Amino acid sequence: FSQSLHASEQNNPIVIAHRGASGYLPEHTLEAKTLAYALGADYIEQDLVLSKDNHLIVMHDIYLDHVTDVASKFPDKARADGHFYTIDFTLPELKQLRVTGPFVKVLGKEIPKYGKRFPLWRSQFQLATFEEELELIQGLNQSLGYNTGIYPEIKKPYFHAQEGRDISRAVLQVLKQYGYTKPDSKVYLQSFDAEELQRIHQELLPAMNMDIPLVQLIAETDWEEKRVKQAGQWQNYDFDWMHTPEGLKKIAGYAAGIGPWHPMLVNDEGTASALLTEARKLGLQVHPYTFRADPLQIPDAYRDFEEFIGLYVEQLQVDGLFTDHPDKVRSYLSQR
Ligand code: G3P
Ligand code: CA
Repeated sequence: FSQSLHASEQNNPIVIAHRGASGYLPEHTLEAKTLAYALGADYIEQDLVLSKDNHLIVMHDIYLDHVTDVASKFPDKARADGHFYTIDFTLPELKQLRVTGPFVKVLGKEIPKYGKRFPLWRSQFQLATFEEELELIQGLNQSLGYNTGIYPEIKKPYFHAQEGRDISRAVLQVLKQYGYTKPDSKVYLQSFDAEELQRIHQELLPAMNMDIPLVQLIAETDWEEKRVKQAGQWQNYDFDWMHTPEGLKKIAGYAAGIGPWHPMLVNDEGTASALLTEARKLGLQVHPYTFRADPLQIPDAYRDFEEFIGLYVEQLQVDGLFTDHPDKVRSYLSQR
């Protein structure tokens, strides 16, 4: 870990630690964020949801089941669909939970979903608030003299709206409080929700005297429908229009970049897809997700992780990569 290792050279894409160094430690814990920092991430990601008492909690899902022991600690707090929603818990309750997982069931046995994150149930990792994480990153920046950025994601604004909350306003208030207000503040604000990003661009940012870059995340329409259905079916996202020149032009009107699922950037011949070509023409930054170095997570088309990210870095020339293994991407970039 050194200044030269940490600093992103001019021609390198930015390394975005996806949920922290989540290939090694339970996702979104402060431990995973500290490790991401030490492994040389340029930006560290925070997925955000709200608690009952209006704290922003750094969590991927709107419910707690997949990554905590909530079912054993608060068995009576599940909703009718069987899920334990973060928004039904106060911060003191959330702090009682142990963070681990996520797991998947294979042949009746629970195994870690992503490789070998350490140490699963054998430690006392906690959920963290957005403020706690910003204190950590800004504190490390101050101590070590680096300027590691943040990459918050507003999770499911429509769900929060149905619960009577404005999560986007809450996120912007915290960003403002911590000084992330200008284009050069080392922050990108991302969401899958195009309508919400437009509201942020048109109403919230000007009203709060802020100007920070927004990133439109792009998934497959079916994929997001499935996830929304699992979560209780409130609304379907449609991503198909984003793959058209008109759609991307619309995105360029409110966002500085796109965050597509990585296969969307490459066509069958291994060259740039129409999505990437059009985004480039419009000057949109391109930050694909998620690059995982676990052998089982590397697509079959690639020999190894270096070949996998090599295509995106050298041929496709993306501007950034979301990765669970920031050290592996940093190591690749340092040898270019
Ligand atoms: O935000 C980029 C990437 O994290 C998108 O996927 O589901 O991991 O938030 P997800
Ligand atoms: Ca995310």
